[in-house]
Formats: sequence, C-alpha cells, structure tokens
Amino acid sequence: MFDFRSDTVTRPTKAMKEAMMNAEVGDDVYEDDPTIKALELYVAQITGFEASLFVLSGTMGNQLAVMSHTQKGEAVLMHANVHVNQYEVGAIGLLSSAYPKLVYNETGYLSASDIIKYKGVDNIHFPKVSMVIVENALGDGRCLNSDIMNQTIQQAHDFGYKVHMDGARLFNAHIANQESLSSLIGNADSLMFCLSKGLGAPVGSMLCGSKAFIAQARRYRKMLGGGIRQGGILAAAGIYALTHHVDRLKEDHERAAQITKMLQDFKYEVKVNHRDINMVFFKLRHNQSESDWIKRALDFDLIFGPSTHGWLRLVTHLDINDEAVMRLHQFLQSQK
Ligand SMILES: Cc1ncc(COP(=O)(O)O)c(C=O)c1O
Repeated sequence: MFDFRSDTVTRPTKAMKEAMMNAEVGDDVYEDDPTIKALELYVAQITGFEASLFVLSGTMGNQLAVMSHTQKGEAVLMHANVHVNQYEVGAIGLLSSAYPKLVYNETGYLSASDIIKYKGVDNIHFPKVSMVIVENALGDGRCLNSDIMNQTIQQAHDFGYKVHMDGARLFNAHIANQESLSSLIGNADSLMFCLSKGLGAPVGSMLCGSKAFIAQARRYRKMLGGGIRQGGILAAAGIYALTHHVDRLKEDHERAAQITKMLQDFKYEVKVNHRDINMVFFKLRHNQSESDWIKRALDFDLIFGPSTHGWLRLVTHLDINDEAVMRLHQFLQSQK
C-alpha cells in the first residue's frame, strides 16, 4: 500500500533498523544512555543551541517549552492556526496554566507587526504575555524565510518575550528555502523539531535551548512520564535519520510538485499550487463523493486521509516512491 496520509507513517528502513539494533544503551533517567547523549550533543551542534533533549513527540516538546518558558497565568501569543493551539488538546491551559492569546490574520502566520498589534496594554485586567510561538514550516506546507522569522523574533525580544519555534518540519523548510538551519532558527530561545516526520525515524522529537532551559524541560519531561530508560535504540534511529535523510527531502518536495502538476492536468482545484514542501492540498471535483473516492483509491493500493475544511491532503515521504506517484496517476486517470 502507498500511504499518502502523512509523513508520520514511514517505517524504519533496514539500515535504520540495523543502527537501532547496534545501539549502545543505558538508563537515560540517570543520563547514562550514550546514544541519547550522542544524539543530544549532535543536535545541539547542528542547531547552534547550548543543549538539546530527546522527547517522545512534537507535542511533548512544544508543551515542555511552554511549561519551561512561562509562569502560571501568563499569556502565550501565537497565530490561531499553529499546531500548539489547534492540535495539542488545549494542553497549555492544563499543563502550564497559560492563556492562549490568538492572532487571526490573512497571512496565516505571526509577523512582527502582529506582535505590535496584539501586545495590548500593560494593565491589571489582562494576562501578561511572556512567550511567543512561531511555526516553520507552516501546517499548510508553506515555508517562511529567515528575514520574516528574524523580524518576528526580534520584535518579540524587543518586548521581552521568549520565542519558541515549532519546527516540526524545519528540515523541510531548510531544504526548500535553501537556507541554513542557523539562519532559519535565528535568535529563537527554543526549538522543537521532529525526527519522526519527513526524516523517517519511528519515534521522537528534539527540544533545543539553553542549558538552564533544557534542565528545566528534562524535569518536566520526567513529570509527564517521558523519562525513557534504554531509549538509545530510538535515538539511534534519530541519528541515522539526521545523517542520512536530510538531503533526500528534496525528492519528497519534487514528487509533491509532480503530483500538483498531475492534479492540475486532471483539473482538480489545487490550493495555491504546490506549497514549498511535501504536502499538496486539493479539492475533489463537485460531483465526486469523498468517501467513494477514498474507497476506490484503495483498489489502487492508495491510502488517502479524510479532508479538512473540504481540502484533501497528499503527503510525500520516504515510503512514497515513483511507483506510488505512477499509481496515483493511474487512479486519477480512472476517475476522468
Ligand atoms: C507543526 C507541528 N507541530 C507539532 C506537531 C506534533 O508532533 P507529534 O505528532 O509528534 O506530537 C505536528 C504534528 O503533525 C506538527 O505538524
């Protein structure tokens, strides 16, 4: 089966499994796991942060960031579309006692001018903003460039806010924008990125920041039950992903562009063409039923997820090869 639902569905390759099998392990709660330590050191080096922490998921990394950057009752300024607001079970209210201060605008992301506009007045009636969350790549597959990111981060810092970057797909943005990781990260105070999406590891994300921030996040990770013992087998997959699967993200982006062109040729409405990375959003033609369409695709060994707000999404990744794209072409042809 070719699974287009998400880049989280990838299975570890044989070489990745071998790296996992050969991993040296220890008890990471005692900070004794050499492979986790090696991963954390390597990630700190490539991102330019003082330290990093292996966490079980992107959600856990983002939530640890909010817990570590805020005090009870403070506000977190973010665009309403970001993952932390939309898809993390409302956790910041529960885990951090923080207040989500949401930005709505046409662009779909938070900019420096939004920070000025939403700063509000310093008044006893209002929660005090202490943190800003930015996302790159965005959930709709667009990548922001380092100029936009840096202006936003600078403005937040001018107001004394901490900045957390949700870079679940930062490596996709790095490859798509052809900009270095360090310029995309700029002066953000913390970063989360996922090993288990386009990079193809089975589990895990990395949280990066200062030594003090990571020490605090490590404590909270334990509190949430995320203290992993012989997690080196998972970290080995992460190291393998970071050293073997970054440059190949270009292939995923190229296949997404190819699929966009195909859909346009078959006269499907495609959202703002192909948006930079490995995701294509499109609408079915008006006489096509979504559930029938998804069911018929199974006959071609194609798995599609349900639509969001009427838009279906196809995601390319490590397990989507040229044969998968050809199969998709055959399926679209059968739907003429
Ligand atoms: C932008 C963004 N942030 C965070 C996450 C959360 O990652 P996880 O599914 O590992 O919790 C996702 C997952 O899709 C995401 O797209």
